[in-house]
Amino acid sequence: MSKKILITGGAGFIGSHVVRLFVNKYPDYRIINLDALTYAGNLENLKDAENAPNYFFEKADILKADEIKNIFEKHSITDVIHLAAESHVDRSILSPLDFIYTNIIGTVNLLNIAKDSWKENLPDHRFYHISTDEVYGTLGEAGLFTEISPYAPNSPYSASKASSDHFVRAYGETYKLPYVISNCSNNYGPNQFPEKLIPLFINNIIHKKSLPVYGKGENTRDWLYVIDHARAIDVVFHEGKDNETYNIGGFNEWKNMDLVKLLCKMMDEKLKRSPGESDQLITFIKDRPGHDFRYAIDASKIYKALGWKPSVTFEEGLGHTIDWYMENQEWLSHVTSGDYQQYYQNQYSHR
Ligand code: NAD
Ligand code: TYD
Repeated sequence: MSKKILITGGAGFIGSHVVRLFVNKYPDYRIINLDALTYAGNLENLKDAENAPNYFFEKADILKADEIKNIFEKHSITDVIHLAAESHVDRSILSPLDFIYTNIIGTVNLLNIAKDSWKENLPDHRFYHISTDEVYGTLGEAGLFTEISPYAPNSPYSASKASSDHFVRAYGETYKLPYVISNCSNNYGPNQFPEKLIPLFINNIIHKKSLPVYGKGENTRDWLYVIDHARAIDVVFHEGKDNETYNIGGFNEWKNMDLVKLLCKMMDEKLKRSPGESDQLITFIKDRPGHDFRYAIDASKIYKALGWKPSVTFEEGLGHTIDWYMENQEWLSHVTSGDYQQYYQNQYSHR
């Protein structure tokens, strides 16, 4: 039987790349994109896929169990790839409850509906939960997160994601719901909402606005191009073993200041500005509370067990990303109006 896959959060950053990949690569599957279209969800991300015969969109909130149940029945959903979430750490510090509702309760709603809808033949189905390396907490100067690193989340965002991971695992153990979880490092690429470091700084460099670096800029993140994450999700969904976790990353750690300087240099070249011009925009501001020092993924398991590895270098991925934002100013101006202006004001004006 051909799969009918519910992809939640498909109008968001990573979700839209996953939807596009599945719609194009698997014409025999039906891809149902379920998204509440919060500030982070944008159907413009999928303009090129919306007319495909195997693509369907359902505007719904994962907190509304009745609506989700109807969508499961209407489309005879066989599998779930669950990306819908509140995803920005700074917003989780401002309003933690939103993260508890969507990330924890929303996930448990989906688990309940999947378990009940699939009860006749559970082993034929799969619930794939997309998670983050942030559930493991923070690293010091050395070491890498592996699949057996203890969970030690430090932000309301990562605590809510950790909780959702535990519920997925618990449904596997208790109700025998077949699941797989992947925990990925920081993503970057086209269509990322400009509240996260890389798109925010690209947008600010274009407009010669200050680049607000938290603390001393010594924190380290491990960056993966979003299309490589989507490729990994395809591989884990099809080849990953039931009830297993896979860490996804490309062994690509950058101290924030080194990354910001690289971005400034590449953009000065692309914008034909004089060398060092954008560095002048760097401003150090008050640190994020509970700011995790370092994330770094050991991706050996997915490399060895599933044969996945990234397809682009960081410089290539960053080059494509900068080009995309420079060519898609209209997309940027659509998503940075209204609510976003208010958020930006609240987040940065007092620091
Ligand atoms: P995003 O914020 O860009 O997109 C989230 C999407 O979920 C949006 O389209 C939004 O409308 C939708 N959504 C939010 N609440 C909803 C609700 N209640 N019901 C239905 N839809 C809702 O996020 P992203 O960066 O694309 O992240 C997607 C997933 O990947 C998340 O689960 C996140 O935790 C995980 N992840 C993200 C990264 C990263 O670097 N961005 C890294 C690892 C894992
Ligand atoms: P972010 O993109 O928010 O991802 P996460 O916090 O989930 O890793 O931030 C990446 C890094 O950049 C993190 O160390 C915080 C830092 N940062 C800044 O220094 N200034 C900013 O304005 C933002 C948004 C992030």
